[in-house]
Amino acid sequence: MLLNIVDVSKTYRSSVAGGIGIKILDGLSMELESGATVAVTAPSGTGKSTLLNLVGGIDRPDSGSIIFKGKDIAKFTDDELAAYRNRHVGFVFQEHHLLPQCTAIENVLLPTLPAVSGGSESGVLDRAMFLLERVGLADRTAHFPGQLSGGERQRVALARGLINSPALLLADEPTGSLDRANAEKLADLMMEINSSTGTAIIIATHSEALASKASRHLLLADGNLRGCRA
Ligand SMILES: Nc1ncnc2c1ncn2[C@@H]1O[C@H](COP(=O)(O)OP(=O)(O)OP(=O)(O)O)[C@@H](O)[C@H]1O
Ligand SMILES: [Mg+2]
Repeated sequence: MLLNIVDVSKTYRSSVAGGIGIKILDGLSMELESGATVAVTAPSGTGKSTLLNLVGGIDRPDSGSIIFKGKDIAKFTDDELAAYRNRHVGFVFQEHHLLPQCTAIENVLLPTLPAVSGGSESGVLDRAMFLLERVGLADRTAHFPGQLSGGERQRVALARGLINSPALLLADEPTGSLDRANAEKLADLMMEINSSTGTAIIIATHSEALASKASRHLLLADGNLRGCRA
């Protein structure tokens, strides 16, 4: 099992509302095998990004565990957590989060910087180039995000999410800002990459069309997941 989410709860406390807590995730559990794809759909504000942030080690659950390859990520040392976030998990954020002052290829290379400065990684430039080719942007490597279309920026973000060959890709509404045709292309590309590399993918999305491409489709409601298509 690649990922085991066990009984995870998360409450956000609002300081303005006198500390009243809103329980977003309530004893949520889910398993994901290596190479699997799962789509999580839910209305806005239901907790999809919250769930992905917990799985990605960006935030911590109040209770429950997230077990990655048999290890509870809450028990990782700082170094292990950094390696997990940087190498084992790739993120495609809801907003693409590209650095505006860096070109497409520089953005793709960003997650490799710690390894490069440690002198342990070679060939990352070739891989960045390969991934940009893979997402159809071989002729846009020197473009800045401001010179790219929305769909192209999302494709750069996908290439960046894959640069360290993660075992798990977390894609938060990756097609949200795209028109239907480009959304379809990006979704197909993600599924192709899943079949060719075996990178497991969790996709959070509003889009039923995108969700239908994943091998499993779960609905997030009332803080928990239920099967829509197992
Ligand atoms: N840091 C935070 N502090 C307080 N409340 C938060 C925080 N982050 C998220 N929330 C609240 O938690 C709920 C779930 O947010 P989340 O971003 O996970 O939703 P979502 O399902 O991803 O929505 P969307 O589809 O709009 O992206 C929302 O009501 C949001 O306001
Ligand atoms: Mg969200």
